[in-house]
Amino acid sequence: MIESTEARYTPAQTRATKQSPDFISAIATELQSMKAAKIEQSESSKSVRIARPFNNEQIEQRVLSILRSGRLVQGKTVEEFERSLSEYIGCRNVVCVNSGTAALHLAFMALKTEEPEKTEVITTPLSFAATANAVIHAGCKPVFVDVDSKTFNIDASLIQQKINSSTLALEPVDVYGLPADLKEIADLAATNHIPVVEDAAEAIGATSDGKKIGTISTLSCFSTYATKNIHTGEGGFVTTQDDHLASLIRLFRNQGQVSRYNQTVLGYNFRMLELCAAIGLEQVPVLDELNRKRRENALYLKERLQKIDSIDFQRVSDPKSHSWYLFTLTLDPQRAKLSRDSFVAKLKGHGIEADIAWPTPIHLQPYFRETFGCKKGDFPVAEALAERIFQLPIQPFLERDDLDRVLDAISEILQ
Ligand SMILES: Cc1ncc(COP(=O)(O)O)c(C=O)c1O
Repeated sequence: MIESTEARYTPAQTRATKQSPDFISAIATELQSMKAAKIEQSESSKSVRIARPFNNEQIEQRVLSILRSGRLVQGKTVEEFERSLSEYIGCRNVVCVNSGTAALHLAFMALKTEEPEKTEVITTPLSFAATANAVIHAGCKPVFVDVDSKTFNIDASLIQQKINSSTLALEPVDVYGLPADLKEIADLAATNHIPVVEDAAEAIGATSDGKKIGTISTLSCFSTYATKNIHTGEGGFVTTQDDHLASLIRLFRNQGQVSRYNQTVLGYNFRMLELCAAIGLEQVPVLDELNRKRRENALYLKERLQKIDSIDFQRVSDPKSHSWYLFTLTLDPQRAKLSRDSFVAKLKGHGIEADIAWPTPIHLQPYFRETFGCKKGDFPVAEALAERIFQLPIQPFLERDDLDRVLDAISEILQ
């Protein structure tokens, strides 16, 4: 955890108005100030960390005042967080919930309410388990389609053949923060009269064809889990331009109650904590700057790693369209003369928090093999990628020294 920096530097928000150009440059200064203040870190944070929470005086003040207010759940701060996200994304409805998984679950529940007989959702096997779990929780079955070997996103050209009269929705994932082929997917959805539930858990701040993620699909579902670009510990939200779907999601979020103790449908407790909203709220105005720093870090590493023939990268045609939640590369074990897993283990030995997301595609998880009869060979591109993919740290609080440590470790391991 970052220690309170309250006494050591003046937070940017006290020096400039939110959203103003001054504010953005003040955030850059704030990042510098945090460095200058030599914020004390725990033992584990001496490694080059893949994620690190944002904190400032305003967050601490907000959290404290919520604790003192006596209202801890789903109150004014959650509403303010929703308004702030709605303004930032440019979408009329934002509904906060207590995880990205809950956001997806309720998106499918809302669509199911309209078309209860439909039971299939077309999605990618190269994602986090929640992408498919939420489909199942809503009483549907995930129908997987293989991915593109360059972008690692769902291969849109394979979707049409899986669409039938049972298809409830298409569920592309903006994998690692790189938007899926949303234009082609929207066209397919329109031709077949089916909605798109975008798993945008990793893509806050990303864009596609100049449009913000969260404004394109029928429903877009975001996560604000502890490591995400905006993080609240646990949390998530749904965006939609459709008022009816938004009102259904609000209903499901709070036990199906239209008003206090007046329940019309079977709902859930997916309410967000005020404390979580307070943490997230302060990050919205600085998100673009933090994402810019992530991009800068990724491009710095990429430029220097390009010469290594055993390493390749997720193909990103426009670096500004990516949220850079995770900087994802592949290792060719033959050329490296080293398996991906040993390589990542060695990086960790050098104090570099590299990661593997995800070592097993969803369809090869034992639960999916047993429940849906999935097997090795079903989605060869996803399976091959899952054996080579890894991530390097690019989070916005890293300094050049940290990035150079990553590069030094890689050249030592692959020499
Ligand atoms: C692609 C993807 N989908 C869904 C989720 C689920 O979000 P949460 O962990 O907030 O439930 C995540 C988060 O880890 C994710 O990365």
